[in-house]
Amino acid sequence: GAYLVEGLGHCGMCHSSFNALGATDKNAQLAGGLIPIQRWYAPALNSGAEVGLGNWTDEELTQFLKTGVSVRGATYGPMSDVVFHSLQHLSDADLQAIATYLRAQPVLVSPGDVQKIEVSPQLAVELAQQGRQIYINHCAECHQLDGRGVGEQYPPLAGNPSIAMQPGTNAIRMVLLGGFQPGTKGNPRPYSMPPFAQLLNDHDVAAVVTYIRQAWGNNAPAVSPAVVTRFRHVPE
Ligand code: HEC
Ligand code: HEC
Repeated sequence: GAYLVEGLGHCGMCHSSFNALGATDKNAQLAGGLIPIQRWYAPALNSGAEVGLGNWTDEELTQFLKTGVSVRGATYGPMSDVVFHSLQHLSDADLQAIATYLRAQPVLVSPGDVQKIEVSPQLAVELAQQGRQIYINHCAECHQLDGRGVGEQYPPLAGNPSIAMQPGTNAIRMVLLGGFQPGTKGNPRPYSMPPFAQLLNDHDVAAVVTYIRQAWGNNAPAVSPAVVTRFRHVPE
């Protein structure tokens, strides 16, 4: 597991924060970080049971790594490339070794290297209310009103660590760009999500992302329209 995660798989290239020289920071091994240039956030792989992989089962984790889909959520962005190009070709024993190794990591707190833009309590309430209507109009047909999604076709947003993680940038980028699940042997007919960048302005995106971060028992802070503006024009 250690060899696969730290050597062959280069998981820390993305899942650790970067120091000024661009080398991965030994003190922040697997604690999550914003990937330079691509600007997707690779979440902590060692954030414990409450928000992290700690409450996934081994089967859920190995399925996610092997097929790109799971009842916990689908891979997207650069993680889909990792599944497509390498992880889907690993043996079940290797995937199990990765899962065991990740679970054995001491829990670290993510350094949270993205500058936070605070949202006033009043704006947070407005965003969540407006976001609910946008969700009903544009998202519920796939992710369902109760946020539970549909099997492995449409990932759940309720209880999905990708939604509640700090910072909220990946959810913002998914809504702007949409995404394709990776086509893998274990998921030969991948489903996709349409982009909403044309349809929704920065305020609308902040509203719907704030809503999904707070609905159905999710409990994450609101995201500001200013953060959406910042992430609207970055390369995929
Ligand atoms: C046509 C169906 C469809 C619609 C409509 C849709 N989605 Fe999705 N959504 C998907 C699929 C499929 C994925 C997985 C895509 C991937 O893996 O790249 C996804 C993934 C996501 C993710 C990443 C979660 C994860 O674990 O993969 C978020 C966040 C999300 N959708 C939010 C929304 C929001 C908010 C809306 C409405 C503005 C919306 N979606 C509308 C089908 C849809
Ligand atoms: C090129 C950058 C990159 C590399 C290399 C990479 N990842 Fe990821 N990973 C991401 C991004 C971005 C996400 C968030 C999107 C998602 O959930 O698919 C992610 C998400 C994940 C998740 C879901 C975590 C959660 O809480 O939702 C797991 C598990 C994971 N990666 C494991 C791995 C493992 C194991 C390796 C090495 C074999 C690896 N990753 C290599 C970028 C990367």
